[in-house]
Amino acid sequence: MTLTELEALLSARHSCRAFRADPVPRAEIERIVAAACRVPSWCNAQPWQVTLTSGAETDAFRAALMNEAMTGTPGPDLAFPSGYSGVYQDRRRTCGWALYEAVGVEKGDRAGSAEQMMKNFSLFDAPHCAIISSPAELGGYGAMDCGGFVAAFTLAAQALGVATIPQAAVASYAPFLHRYFDIPEDRLILCAISFGYADTEHPANSFRTERAAVDEIVDWRG
Ligand SMILES: Cc1cc2nc3c(=O)[nH]c(=O)nc-3n(C[C@H](O)[C@H](O)[C@H](O)COP(=O)(O)O)c2cc1C
Repeated sequence: MTLTELEALLSARHSCRAFRADPVPRAEIERIVAAACRVPSWCNAQPWQVTLTSGAETDAFRAALMNEAMTGTPGPDLAFPSGYSGVYQDRRRTCGWALYEAVGVEKGDRAGSAEQMMKNFSLFDAPHCAIISSPAELGGYGAMDCGGFVAAFTLAAQALGVATIPQAAVASYAPFLHRYFDIPEDRLILCAISFGYADTEHPANSFRTERAAVDEIVDWRG
């Protein structure tokens, strides 16, 4: 593969926030997971474990998660960021407003933005959800390795025409996820990846995010 082809794949991938109902064939999901496993990890520990739903299991999970989001209390295994300041706050706001503008939520419309946020818990109607966990004893490095796995999963999926969205929002209900899927307490639930085929007509999928220029992120020495 040339870098030009890889760049095309990287540019084509985006977070999908409206899915069609049709499922991804099991063989393709297996290929995506196997491809994602090729990322590097410290000591080749491969800390990722994936709890992956399809069909009626996704629908049952969606219903239970929505109920939890309406009645439960969030409690992520991995502490959420304590704040976003400076450029990080700017970038966060920019992508948030791009989403709200795309779906017609105006500034100050708290009910509208809350309603859009709640779509996280219906998994944006995706037919599949993958819950990613890492051994607690591996700490931040396990999470780092799993970040690579998540990125590769989204790219491998994109290469097969499968749309994805990583979701920290789902992991915010970690105690519920441990109970619901019987995920051992010695594993940190890091995020979910909801995936399927994109509803390309949906306004939530009509915008794209920007990236900072290379000179903004590299401190060149020599
Ligand atoms: C670890 C992680 C967690 C994320 N959690 C959420 C989430 O809970 N809800 C959401 O709508 N998007 C979530 N996203 C998607 C980001 O908002 C998105 O990747 C970012 O805005 C860049 O846009 P792009 O993926 O379309 O390139 C998450 C992404 C990552 C990598």
